[in-house]
Amino acid sequence: MQADVLDASQAVAASSAAAAVPTAPIESPRQLFESSGVKAVLAQLDAELVGLAPVKGRIHDIAALLLVDKLRAQQGFNSQPPSLHMCFTGNPGTGKTTVALRMAEVLKQLGYVRKGHLVAVTRDDLVGQFIGHTAPKTREVLKKAMGGVLFIDEAYYLYRPENERDYGQEAIEILLQVMENQREDIVVILAGYKDRMQTFFGSNPGMASRIAHHIDFPDYTEPELLRIAQLMLEKLHYRFDDGALQAFARYIALRRAQPHFANARSVRNALDRMRLRHATRLFDSDVPLQPEQLVTLQAADVTASRVFAARHAA
Ligand SMILES: Nc1ncnc2c1ncn2[C@@H]1O[C@H](COP(=O)(O)OP(=O)(O)OP(=O)(O)O)[C@@H](O)[C@H]1O
Ligand SMILES: [Mg+2]
Repeated sequence: MQADVLDASQAVAASSAAAAVPTAPIESPRQLFESSGVKAVLAQLDAELVGLAPVKGRIHDIAALLLVDKLRAQQGFNSQPPSLHMCFTGNPGTGKTTVALRMAEVLKQLGYVRKGHLVAVTRDDLVGQFIGHTAPKTREVLKKAMGGVLFIDEAYYLYRPENERDYGQEAIEILLQVMENQREDIVVILAGYKDRMQTFFGSNPGMASRIAHHIDFPDYTEPELLRIAQLMLEKLHYRFDDGALQAFARYIALRRAQPHFANARSVRNALDRMRLRHATRLFDSDVPLQPEQLVTLQAADVTASRVFAARHAA
């Protein structure tokens, strides 16, 4: 208790000492939110990603924490950089990599990392095949990621309890050291399926205790997937006509129920195939095309998909 009181009075003393020196006027959080560019990054995240309200809320909260921490530091209050290592769980194609990229930008804008780049790796980038290969490999990756974010996809593959002498353990130990000792210069984000991630943390309490933020990415609903498709098409200067829009809604309902469905990633892949069919259809025409035709996907471009055929076959 006493220590707390002492700390607080020291902080006030420090702040009044700081106030004696002419400094810039105290910014309001809202001013800093705008001037740091964080507002713009979050607005971009909001505009380019459909849905994900809980994820966006958590990113906003983390940004608020960092912003207030910065204002505290400016006033000379005790400011220990908050622990920022994170875990993103969710199924494939739910936006984890995309959000990690934006997170790196937010951290850069607020000065928590120097460069704000993202290095995305999996087990094979960190763990060697032979004795003595893992440490240099892991250190090389860490060196590349310094000043930014290290994103480890399917992080649970680092831990293989079935192999008695698995080199993954060595990579984990090096990561833990750096996560603890150099956390003002690197943020580690682990990503993967939720259940496997939980099992991984269960057997790696050292890792679990260093991860401060757990963010879960839900699967998209059918209307969200449709909206994602429209957003992707807009960016590419394409659009669905009414028939194609209805056909794609049916496509999503069928595709979602099939194996290996990967949320927004499957939508992107489906659109690529539809653009191919659209091009082939236009290619057969020997009359000049209207600009409208070059941008419009029709029902036939959608319904030629195997996804519909599979239903007829069944
Ligand atoms: N909410 C969304 N709105 C619009 N586009 C999205 C959304 N979520 C993901 N995407 C797009 O879908 C693709 C896959 O997203 P991303 O790579 O971020 O997913 P992921 O969760 O990292 O997937 P994986 O686990 O397969 O690596 C990207 O092209 C991304 O831009
Ligand atoms: Mg990814």
